[in-house]
Amino acid sequence: MNNQVVIISGASGGIGRAVAKLLARKGNYQLILCDIDDEGLKEVINDLPGGENQSFIVDVGDKKSIKKLFNELSDQNLKATFLINTFGISPVDSKGDRIGLDKTSIDLWDRVFQINSTGVFLMCQAFLNQKGVLTEKDNPRIVNVSSAAAQLGGYRSCPAYIASKAAVIALTKSIARDYAEYGVLANCVCPGLIDTKMFQQGNPADNVASKVPLGRLGEAEDVAGAIAFLLSPDSLYITGASLDVNGGYRMA
Ligand SMILES: NC(=O)c1ccc[n+]([C@@H]2O[C@H](COP(=O)([O-])OP(=O)(O)OC[C@H]3O[C@@H](n4cnc5c(N)ncnc54)[C@H](O)[C@@H]3O)[C@@H](O)[C@H]2O)c1
Repeated sequence: MNNQVVIISGASGGIGRAVAKLLARKGNYQLILCDIDDEGLKEVINDLPGGENQSFIVDVGDKKSIKKLFNELSDQNLKATFLINTFGISPVDSKGDRIGLDKTSIDLWDRVFQINSTGVFLMCQAFLNQKGVLTEKDNPRIVNVSSAAAQLGGYRSCPAYIASKAAVIALTKSIARDYAEYGVLANCVCPGLIDTKMFQQGNPADNVASKVPLGRLGEAEDVAGAIAFLLSPDSLYITGASLDVNGGYRMA
């Protein structure tokens, strides 16, 4: 497999950045980095070796913004064969505390679903609708980032986040089933407690790492490694799976 064009959405974030760095190091990938955070995108792309990578400001909550991205790729005769969706929001209140069901407004619920679930749906749909992607000889791949919170009912994150991330797992399975005949592989990774900005904004307790059997928080690089595996030739018989990256925090 040579020079696969890979879209990494949420590329300015902790996990997205780590994926971009890892894939750039491995080579053979042309990276299309997207995020709503322009400053972050500049930092990431300036850090990467190789000149073929590109970055685009994309708001995954806006269908037009996603369409613009795919139109720009098509204008450049670029067809993405791998899609990694790492964006996400996990709202907390003004003190950094969890927003319980009783405090969840319909606006909050809709905003979280608009980004975390509808954003993944729109990105996957646009990716699969690209001309020629379903007749690719190499397996096109989708990796969506869900969360251990969706599997566990969560402890720290809000109900809207937990439910929106469960939708990502279900959507990914439906894509895996519907598009298997075209050789498309669609999988999720489900991170546990990963030490990024999103994790820190939720006021983690000092002893939180002691709840993880491996005795430490995950690093963004731990998740990036699992995503890279799901893009590699070593995972060709894996589809519709949810790969836990949680240090044993939740065991299936
Ligand atoms: N950190 C954890 O403990 C943890 C645990 C489980 C799952 N996750 C999931 O991992 C993924 C990456 O999270 P992270 O920890 O790197 O968080 P992060 O906050 O560092 O990164 C999230 C990224 O998503 C981007 N984003 C938000 N809204 C967007 C929009 N409308 N359009 C485009 N981009 C947008 C942000 O700008 C940011 O760069 C998320 O899906 C998150 O839910 C994280």
